[in-house]
Formats: sequence, structure tokens, C-alpha cells
Amino acid sequence: MSAPNKSYDPVEVEALKPEEIERMRDEALAAFAAADSLDALHEAKVAHTGPASPLALANREIGALPPHAKADAGKRVGQARGAVNKALAGRQAELEAERDARVLVEEDVDVTLPYDRVAPGARHPLTTLSERIEDIFTAMGYEVAEGPETEAEWFNFDALNIGPDHPARGEADTFFVQGPEGRGESGVVLRTHTSPVQIRSLLQRELPVYVICPGRVYRTDELDATHTPVFHQVELLAVDEGLTMADLKGTLDHMVQSLFGEGMKTRLRPNFFPFTEPSAEMDMLCYVCKGDSVGNPDRPCRTCSSEGWIELGGCGMVNPRVLTACGVDPQKYSGFAFGFGIERMLMFRHNVEDMRDMVEGDVRFTRPFGMEI
Ligand code: PHE
Repeated sequence: MSAPNKSYDPVEVEALKPEEIERMRDEALAAFAAADSLDALHEAKVAHTGPASPLALANREIGALPPHAKADAGKRVGQARGAVNKALAGRQAELEAERDARVLVEEDVDVTLPYDRVAPGARHPLTTLSERIEDIFTAMGYEVAEGPETEAEWFNFDALNIGPDHPARGEADTFFVQGPEGRGESGVVLRTHTSPVQIRSLLQRELPVYVICPGRVYRTDELDATHTPVFHQVELLAVDEGLTMADLKGTLDHMVQSLFGEGMKTRLRPNFFPFTEPSAEMDMLCYVCKGDSVGNPDRPCRTCSSEGWIELGGCGMVNPRVLTACGVDPQKYSGFAFGFGIERMLMFRHNVEDMRDMVEGDVRFTRPFGMEI
């Protein structure tokens, strides 16, 4: 910086002479115009607008001027810097546009080129897991039963002892195909569970009935990491003479052993479902830590959050009222049923963290599950 300007003559500050400032400005403009790439422009920018650039240094000299000269010099420097910044922005925009146009040409893909590699498709893991579960039960003599996804309210609710005032029947949970107004004896809904297939099976089949009912179900949930409005359940129903909760428990244990390996077991916790009595929530032993993580902070388990158990779904002995609604004599027959979500099981069986991956159809999600047929 120059020494204080004792004579108060602005021209004494060399760097602030009008022709000097013009020269600095013109040099900057020339440098920007000459820059033929964004990198070169960046260098010119640092040299001509950076803190060590001639114009920035000149700007600092203004402070040494007497008050009346400050305004004059400040205006000159300010105008020069304005012109420089404008030129810089203009050149920057030009070079970016050139780059974008170049990238478009360089990265162009000819989608019309002949293509002779056909990637083999793979089945969705929800399908293969569901079929694996069906296989376990068909091997035991069960039959696969299916029903419609648009279902009469009577099958989805009434026959299952879910009364007209049950909260699950509200529009907050259920998609109604036929609006609430003017619904007759039985409206039409998108089935909220596969349990109506139990009813259809009991009405259509000869006793005893042993069926496994896989299928798509609908609830008015938002799609997020742990919910989807369309998901899949597998439900099982056995109705025969003399069936007890011990049969239910043995069947569940057999299923988790077939799916998750030797030593697996289930536990039941009391719960309530209108269509089963007694009802239970079923958990299975965590197949990763086998319960060793409980009370053992040195060996935490991500799969069961160190709970030792993983919640599977609901189960129970078929409510006699359901049997009666289907014309089955509850004095003679008893039955058990259970149901659970396939998405949830896929999540903990394969460490899938986000349910949205299952519905988006990206092959990068399905490919690692392999070509299981
Ligand atoms: N239908 C029940 C549900 O969707 C699950 C269930 C099935 C419970 C069978 C008990 C017996 O939540």
C-alpha cells in the first residue's frame, strides 16, 4: 500500500490513475476473452478478481485518499470491477454452454444399435418366498387356495366375526370399491387380509379342510420404508376333528424350522382377533442370534434389536362363530389359523431395510436373490 497521501492529490496514488484502472480492466477483459476452457477462465478469474488482483489492490488504496477524492476513485474502481465481473459471468456462461453441448454429443447413446444380449429375467423374491412357504405346506398335504382381491364385505369382515362397528372397517383402513353410501347388505372392498379365503374354502370344500392362502392384500397405508398399501400375506387354515392349539404350535415350529433351519422355534403371546378364540401373536426365535443377544451388550443383534424374538404375525383357534357362519358344526370340528406378511418376512430374512425397494421393480434389487425358479 502507498504511504499516506499527504498532499491530498489523488493522482499520487499510482494505482488509482484513471488510465491505470482502465488498463487493469482491459487486461482482465482480454484475459477472459482469451480463456478457452472453464479451467483457464478460473485461473483468469483468480488473477483478475481475486484478493491479490490489481483491481482489488487498487481498491484497497482508496482508503488512503482524502475524503473528496475517495468518491471519485471509488466510482472509477467500482465501475471497472463491475465491468470485469460482468465480462467474467458472460464468458463463464458461454463456456458452460459450450461444455454442455459437447457433453451431449460425446455422451450420446445410439439406442437404435442392434442388441444381442438378452438379460435373463428373475422372479421377484416376494414370489419365490411365498412359493417356498407354500411348498412347506403342500408337502404336508395342504392345498393352495386363492380368492378374489376385490372382496364382498361379508367375506372380508362379517363372516370373520368383524362386526359393523369394528374400526378396521372404516375408510381410514380399508379401500372401498363401492362407496359407503347406498351399499347394500354387503359392499365391496379391496381385501384387507387373506382371511376371506378361509371363509370361501370352508364354504366350498369338503371337511376336513387344510389350506394355505397366499395373496395380495390392501390397506390405506402410505408407502414408506416399513409400509406399503399393497402387500402380501400367507394365511393358513386347518379345520378337522380334534385339532388343538398344540397342533397350531407344532405347525408353526415346523414352518420356521423349514424356513430358517434346525433349532428354530416359535412362541405365542395372548392377543385378540375377532375370528380366532383364543388368539395369539406369534414370534419366532431370532435366527441370527438365537436369543444370545438378550442381556448381552457385547453381542448386540441388529436383526431382532437384541430382543431375541422376531414378531411374525397373528394366529389362534378358529372362532366357533366363524365355523357356524360357514355351516361347520363347532361341536364336532375345531380349527386353527395363522397369517403373516411376506414383505416383513423378506425384510428380516434378507436384511432388506426399505420396503419401497420391493415395489419399485429395480433389477438391482431383485438380481442378488438369484434365479430361483
Ligand atoms: N388376518 C390377520 C391379519 O391380517 C392375521 C391372522 C390370521 C390372525 C389368522 C389370526 C389368524 O392381521
